[in-house]
Amino acid sequence: MEALGIDIGGSGIKGAPVNITTGKLLAPRFRLTTPKPSTPPAVAETIKVICGKFNWSGLVGCGFPAAIQHGIVRTAANVDDSWINTQGETLFAKATGLQVKLTNDADAAGMAEIEFGAGKGKTGVIFIITIGTGIGTALFVDGNLVPNTELGHIRMKGMDAEFWTSDSARKREGLTWKRWAKRFNRYLNYLDALFWPDLFIVGGGAAKKHEKFLPLLHTRCPVVPAKFHNNAGIVGAALTTRALHRGSK
Ligand code: BGC
Repeated sequence: MEALGIDIGGSGIKGAPVNITTGKLLAPRFRLTTPKPSTPPAVAETIKVICGKFNWSGLVGCGFPAAIQHGIVRTAANVDDSWINTQGETLFAKATGLQVKLTNDADAAGMAEIEFGAGKGKTGVIFIITIGTGIGTALFVDGNLVPNTELGHIRMKGMDAEFWTSDSARKREGLTWKRWAKRFNRYLNYLDALFWPDLFIVGGGAAKKHEKFLPLLHTRCPVVPAKFHNNAGIVGAALTTRALHRGSK
């Protein structure tokens, strides 16, 4: 079985067909810059272009950087505010003429890591943290997802944690990896004190540079890099369509 996985981010929108039984990409990913402003019609048009690029006629799974309830976008930290309360699944389905499943981007990335990646075969409380334009979190308890945890928005230093310790904060403030790692270490220790997880899996755009900061972290809880690096979002988004496969039988 296969599905097109699309990872919608604050800076880029990337897609690839994925074998949802093995978690393998079936073609190199295709990336477009996130439109500015990232309004619902503009993003829907980009999704349509990505589907067209692969000549896709099957199921589509999209990860989106917001809390998602039943296909409805509820927040908009790094996308245009007009997304709030938009029925994204219906919008994308209309734009593409295909069946679409919409899920929080970090939750999607987490599903890929738990099933095929760094969390494979592991039980207990596991966090997948994605570091990119924002900070995404996905919480799994014995393999079961607790959706929409949104812990990039806990308060630290009087601001949203993601404003202080995301990859865009590192770039915006021109922080060295050492200085940024100090902040991220504090963030992980804060989550640790609140949730006492068994494992942190670090993914997102910054994960491909993990050797620059993982050795600098000092946490009680083990921290490992995401196995899929930045492709976890694409693979996980494709996996979410299993619900549609089941529904279409
Ligand atoms: C959003 C989350 C998202 C994260 C990573 C945050 O700003 O609120 O929904 O998972 O960014 O993209």
